[in-house]
Amino acid sequence: MEACNYLYSLNYPEFEKELCALEVKSLFHFLMDEKVFFANTKIDPSVSPFLRNRIEVLFSHSSFTELVRLVDNEKLHATDFMVRYVKFYDQDPSFEMRRSYCKQLGSKIHGQPLYISPKEIFGITFYRGMWYFGILKQNDITWKEHKDKPFSYSSSIDSNIAKVLVNIAGNGDRSKRIIDPCCGVGTVLLAGVFAGYSIKGCEINRKIAQAARGNLKHFNYNAQVITGDIKDIDEVFDASIIDLPYGNFSMTTKDELQSILKNAKRISKKIVLVSAKNITEEIKSENLAILDRCEVGKNENSDFIRYVWVCE
Ligand SMILES: C[S@@+](CC[C@H](N)C(=O)[O-])C[C@H]1O[C@@H](n2cnc3c(N)ncnc32)[C@H](O)[C@@H]1O
Repeated sequence: MEACNYLYSLNYPEFEKELCALEVKSLFHFLMDEKVFFANTKIDPSVSPFLRNRIEVLFSHSSFTELVRLVDNEKLHATDFMVRYVKFYDQDPSFEMRRSYCKQLGSKIHGQPLYISPKEIFGITFYRGMWYFGILKQNDITWKEHKDKPFSYSSSIDSNIAKVLVNIAGNGDRSKRIIDPCCGVGTVLLAGVFAGYSIKGCEINRKIAQAARGNLKHFNYNAQVITGDIKDIDEVFDASIIDLPYGNFSMTTKDELQSILKNAKRISKKIVLVSAKNITEEIKSENLAILDRCEVGKNENSDFIRYVWVCE
């Protein structure tokens, strides 16, 4: 049996490439190079909008016949399992071939196969001259239900971005305590609870704070939302995520922005900032060190940009 290793695949639209790279760096601690990569870090793909699959590699070989032999020798037992071919974009075998590979490997696993709602899924793929077989975890996309939260408003951040912000703030370490001190209707809170973090929200507007609580309740999620000003928060957190107020609904003055930045620094070691305006100078003038930054387009047809900064 080989050393435990994970083979990941991801996908992203071009306008979110920088955001995806920042997420990969935050979770895996290396610079994204390709859409398929190996890592020793175990991350559930469902915490990310970009990760598609993770194969926990049990066997690999350059020959498919040898791979089948390795699986056969291991006498694997499984109940209600299925074997799936993991496609890596353009060099994949035909549907018939993929089905045949899965059938051949499945026949070497002892136990009852199940094709609808299997309990265990094995994955097989061919990548750069090698066959890989292992335990497959796919992005289950249940988190996409967050997009249909009952309370939304014009300042809500996109659920995809919210997930990435959580990963940037927590680096995949779920013992980290996170705060969203300007939480709006709680999009980041939903992403944080889903990913398994202890996360709190704070919102100055009573009605909007109530909407955030309503959204959390809708998904049966447990996270506290305080009604109040960031300046009144007296706890300290590992990280804060701040989608800065902007637009008609929540206009911010220079002083308000300064106060939010100052208080973010006071209540958290790490700060992940999002803004529709480039506020690099304001961040610097608060003596915050910018560790990373990226720009995110809204979609391929729009030049609307959101800026993300990771500060300390
Ligand atoms: C851009 S919105 C956040 C949207 C949120 N990410 C979401 O998806 O719902 C910024 C929010 O910060 C709140 N806010 C503004 N100043 C604040 C302050 N000093 N303390 C706490 N919340 C504040 C606003 O009421 C607004 O709802």
